[in-house]
Amino acid sequence: MALLRFIITTASLCGSALAITAADAAAHVIFSYPGTAHPARLTTLAQQCQIGGVIIFKDNVDDKLPAYITGLQSAYASGGCAVKGPLLILTDQEGGQVKRLPGGPTLSQKMIGQQSNLDAAGNTAGIQAAAALKAYGNNGNLAPVLDVYHEAGDFEDQNERSYSNDPAVVAQCAAAFIKAQQGKGVIATAKHFPGLGAAAASENTDARPVTINRSLADLRSIDEAPYTAAIQAGIKMVMPSWALYPALDDKYPSGISSKWIQGELRGRLGFEGVIVTDAIEAGGLSGFGTDPERSVLAMTAGVDLILAAARNVTQGEGIVSALVTAVNSGSLSSSTFSTSTSRISSLRNTLSHPSRAGQLPFASISRLWVDDMFRNKTLLGADIMDVPLRVLPFVNRVTIGLYELAMLEKPEANMRLRVDSQQLTRRKV
Ligand SMILES: *[C@@H]1O[C@H](CO)[C@@H](O)[C@H](O)[C@H]1NC(C)=O
Ligand SMILES: *[C@@H]1O[C@H](CO)[C@@H](O)[C@H](O)[C@H]1NC(C)=O
Ligand SMILES: *[C@@H]1O[C@H](CO)[C@@H](O)[C@H](O)[C@H]1NC(C)=O
Repeated sequence: MALLRFIITTASLCGSALAITAADAAAHVIFSYPGTAHPARLTTLAQQCQIGGVIIFKDNVDDKLPAYITGLQSAYASGGCAVKGPLLILTDQEGGQVKRLPGGPTLSQKMIGQQSNLDAAGNTAGIQAAAALKAYGNNGNLAPVLDVYHEAGDFEDQNERSYSNDPAVVAQCAAAFIKAQQGKGVIATAKHFPGLGAAAASENTDARPVTINRSLADLRSIDEAPYTAAIQAGIKMVMPSWALYPALDDKYPSGISSKWIQGELRGRLGFEGVIVTDAIEAGGLSGFGTDPERSVLAMTAGVDLILAAARNVTQGEGIVSALVTAVNSGSLSSSTFSTSTSRISSLRNTLSHPSRAGQLPFASISRLWVDDMFRNKTLLGADIMDVPLRVLPFVNRVTIGLYELAMLEKPEANMRLRVDSQQLTRRKV
């Protein structure tokens, strides 16, 4: 009896050690939600380690958003989750017309590519993007676009999202942007690999399947060229496109193609960072099943993170559950899965933890404070900051981000950052 019990116990322990849970799978899923409802459901899931992050859209933005994000991070941090780094809070802050948050980059990518000093222009845009993201507690940007546009007015050129039709110019602007933004602690994402530059104006992978009939030689020498520069610049994430490129794979679009993901991006180009999908519900994948089915295809191809961008918390939950089933049934290899989890974990560990100050409503306090700074005309004429962060160990990243944002929006103002404990203490209540 004793021996039998021992055997049974051992067997069930082995079984449970191999099986993954929703908390394990969720590290691979970025959630989204509609409007400014700031759903409590997402906070509950965060506390249960059942989200990997959130993508923020313009319709999610209001004054309460920074506090909501701080709350999500605190809930996650209190959950004792296996992946320790902060949740990934991502948005598309490309510049020009494509910006989800208030603030910079002021110039579109096309305008940056037309400046006389490309390094300086890319650098400024990267700093502006980091400031805008940090002001809202975001730690990752789904930018820059590395697509090398083909013809005037085509898909990437029509909204000024491409730096240039010259891959060398794209590479130079992108590298400067990536170094500047990541230097400020905000993850950058090179997209849409291997390139949507040849897509015509109406060929939108969000809406429908798109085939790009370009030779492998052109794809490599033109479209992929900026990726070499981005990888050298230390790019932390890459987003593959949902277009089909028959030159290398005539069945699977890049983001669910192991030929593109493993053969080309990881193999030939040597990218070792995190690979994140474009919106999993995109019309471009209409031939590839439900969102959960597409997610399993993407992870099988070698992608790490799934973007559940339909602004619906249930969508993310369905994907998490499908990943659990896929790994536990063996249809998605558990070694592929765990290698991918390690990649995400390493990335998230490079991010600063949101300060403990998050427990106090500092996000809204500092918001008010910067608003005050704009209103105080006298202050706008004052000398430059003289009391930086040493005074307040609890000044959090949101506060710093708001300050940088203020400086960028009014560079002429030569503002004084009067961060002193008395001022903040007054405003704590
Ligand atoms: C791409 O090539 C395929 C097969 O050769 C063809 O059916 C399709 O029309 C082409 N698409 C474009 C946009 O040229
Ligand atoms: C949310 O997503 C789920 C799962 O994909 C779907 O069944 C549901 O209809 C969606 N709800 C809305 C409001 O889009
Ligand atoms: C703005 O001016 C008011 C009135 O003089 C002052 O109380 C407040 O502290 C100033 N705000 C900042 C951020 O210095």
